[in-house]
Amino acid sequence: MNVYDSEQMALILGQDYELTERAEDADLYLINTCSIRRKSEEKVLSLLGRLKTLKQERPQMLLGVGGCVAQQEGARLLHKVPHLDLVFGTQGVYRLPELLRRRRETNRRLVDTAFSPELPNICGQSLPGALQKFVTIMQGCDNYCTYCVVPYVRGPERSRPVADIVREVEVFLGQGGREVTLLGQNVNSYGRGLAGEITFPALLGRLAELPGLARLRFTTSHPRDLSEELIRGFAELPPLCEHIHLPVQSGANQILARMHRGYRREDYLERVSRLREACPGIALSTDLIVGFPGETESDFQDTLRLMQEAAFDGAFFFKYSPRPQTAAAAFPDQVPESVKTERLARLKEVQEQLSLASNQRLLGEVREVLVEGFSKLENTQLSGRLRSNHVVNFDGPQELIGQMVRVRIKRAYLHSLGALLCED
Ligand code: 5AD
Ligand code: SF4
Repeated sequence: MNVYDSEQMALILGQDYELTERAEDADLYLINTCSIRRKSEEKVLSLLGRLKTLKQERPQMLLGVGGCVAQQEGARLLHKVPHLDLVFGTQGVYRLPELLRRRRETNRRLVDTAFSPELPNICGQSLPGALQKFVTIMQGCDNYCTYCVVPYVRGPERSRPVADIVREVEVFLGQGGREVTLLGQNVNSYGRGLAGEITFPALLGRLAELPGLARLRFTTSHPRDLSEELIRGFAELPPLCEHIHLPVQSGANQILARMHRGYRREDYLERVSRLREACPGIALSTDLIVGFPGETESDFQDTLRLMQEAAFDGAFFFKYSPRPQTAAAAFPDQVPESVKTERLARLKEVQEQLSLASNQRLLGEVREVLVEGFSKLENTQLSGRLRSNHVVNFDGPQELIGQMVRVRIKRAYLHSLGALLCED
């Protein structure tokens, strides 16, 4: 979501500015922020601290903070950071040109955290030469999971009209784009509140028919709302890739209830079986939180068992972090930091075995890769992803970047696969 918002900033300001890699050259320095956990918030303040010298050296450079931390903190950020010019919230992104103009003309430091119930005027263009693209289909969330700050900083759910989404994807495909990831906090509720009946699986069906779309993905899907129709989509819609990110958060029913997730572990596991039945080989990734208030050792063991039962191909895990305004921040039975740290380490160990096993299951297989660029580690090698989202590196000529090729998987590591390019 944040990558998308940063891209929107670059596109919206494209008339007046171009991107630079070097901070020392910048006329405008924008920091896009996330407040999902406290750590990300702390990083913003330390980056702003480091930028003080740069701002002193280049007083004409405008410095702004946008996104969720800006939404949450507003004017407090201007007070804390005297060298900051501008604070703009999650919807302020769309008013940036006007805000920057006002800042230059009036010489007053500005805050814009205004919130409207309307969907903003999303910029449907793409950065030149992009192969892959995020496309927002909805913004905000009405779920109020008790740990989560999103409904407060991103506001209520709003869906984008189908015609706008289809047009954005068509234009992108016309420019040579191959892969689209649909974005929303809770994609399953797409269409609620829109005139005319349209569901999320129906939207996928519409997009899957567009010529030139090689790969279609989406994130994030709420397990409670994962419908049979959507599950069938994985079997029936050719561009829809065999991977789903389905955040479970915990494997203990007591904790799931206190999180207000609206499903039990049995429901989650049942949906996983249905997905695997409908689409054998589908890759499954998840998010997990350790140390949610009241989580006992036995609850935590339920989570470890669920991980084995679901056999996740990948997982992101987080220590519970109390967030402003959320219900769980006020729960009395907070878990000590040392317990969170110890549980996180145990969880990581279990997931490492599962991730390695997931990679090993692919040994010897021939798979299609969208070549994205050079490998991060070994930058003479090409790198890309399988439809299942596994990362694969292999030797091949640079001209293949941007193409779809076939490889045979030869090696399985913890976070990637090694492969040989198929000759045919
Ligand atoms: N503490 C820790 N992790 C959190 N997440 C959301 N809110 C919190 C929090 N307060 C995690 C969830 C979510 C992911 C994006 O971030 O696992 O799925
Ligand atoms: Fe946060 Fe996701 Fe729950 Fe919405 S559904 S409140 S975004 S965790």
